[in-house]
Amino acid sequence: MTDLNAFITGLPKAELHLHIEGSLEPELMFALAERNGIAIPYASVEEVRAAYAFSNLQDFLDIYYAGAAVLQTRADFHDLAAAYFARAAADGVTHAEIMFDPQTHTARGIAFGDVIEGLMSAQAEAHQRYGMTTQLILCFLRHLSEDEAFDTLAQAEPWLDRITAVGLDSSEVGHPPAKFARVFVAARAKGLKLTLHAGEEGPPAYVYEALDVIEADRIDHGNRSLEDAVLVERLRDAQMTLTVCPLSNLKLCVVDDLAEHPIDRMLAAGLKATINSDDPAYFGGYVGENYRAVAAARGLSRDDLATLARNSFTGAFLPPDEIARHLETLDAYLAAHPS
Ligand code: ADE
Ligand code: ZN
Repeated sequence: MTDLNAFITGLPKAELHLHIEGSLEPELMFALAERNGIAIPYASVEEVRAAYAFSNLQDFLDIYYAGAAVLQTRADFHDLAAAYFARAAADGVTHAEIMFDPQTHTARGIAFGDVIEGLMSAQAEAHQRYGMTTQLILCFLRHLSEDEAFDTLAQAEPWLDRITAVGLDSSEVGHPPAKFARVFVAARAKGLKLTLHAGEEGPPAYVYEALDVIEADRIDHGNRSLEDAVLVERLRDAQMTLTVCPLSNLKLCVVDDLAEHPIDRMLAAGLKATINSDDPAYFGGYVGENYRAVAAARGLSRDDLATLARNSFTGAFLPPDEIARHLETLDAYLAAHPS
């Protein structure tokens, strides 16, 4: 391992953009299919991996929703999240905010409570085992209606004290943030933070909507903001956190080559960018690999990497004293690893 790769692995970091359903590795998919007696359209783990070639977001989503069918019981959701937390801990993640898509499961007759209780038991374990702090972000599927999002928010009511934020994911183009304006107002009134996928495939106008109509606390992806200089200035002046996902961008053809990834242009423009894995089982790498791959492709410096890690903590939905504690750990690491 090069010095820089070892530095990245040990670098304390938060992961802010991770879909727990997107951390379902083919091996676990097979194990859960067998445990639950569910047929899957693949003969082997290799065949599953070979199917993970995408030319856009929808290509991926079709396979991702099909894969989630093996998740049936509370234990399945626990095992899924426990596997992710173990990987994240090995990558130096000290705080993780994980997204989940309840509608993908409730539509198949799985109880909302089974999904979230399984995730919660893994969260408790991660804290005990790794000292990791973790939070949950409930995502609404934007290809469904706002009424269905309201219904999901109502189902979440008994667990609202365990949910930090609501998000908006799935097929972006044709489903702008404003479609969900009322449900985000309702979520805010319940004390939840708001984060939205915007500017992944959708135009800069969707990022403006996330800011102006929804008053988002964070933007997931945000890549296409770079097409609009006025928007870049706004995001910079607001120090809006962007949860950027380099390997996802490559696999979903948001960029043609990692060598063209805009992460360093974002930092140079003063944008508060962070590095995340999005759906690591599908995109070929967890958060550490995302840092390593884009650092190599774009020649990031230790200072850049330290800035990205710092942004991940200051952009977290944590109270100030907990952010300060994470930053102390980061500063101690940086002091112990001078360039
Ligand atoms: N759901 C899971 N990953 C996603 C992504 N990258 N964009 C939109 N929805 C998603
Ligand atoms: Zn995402």
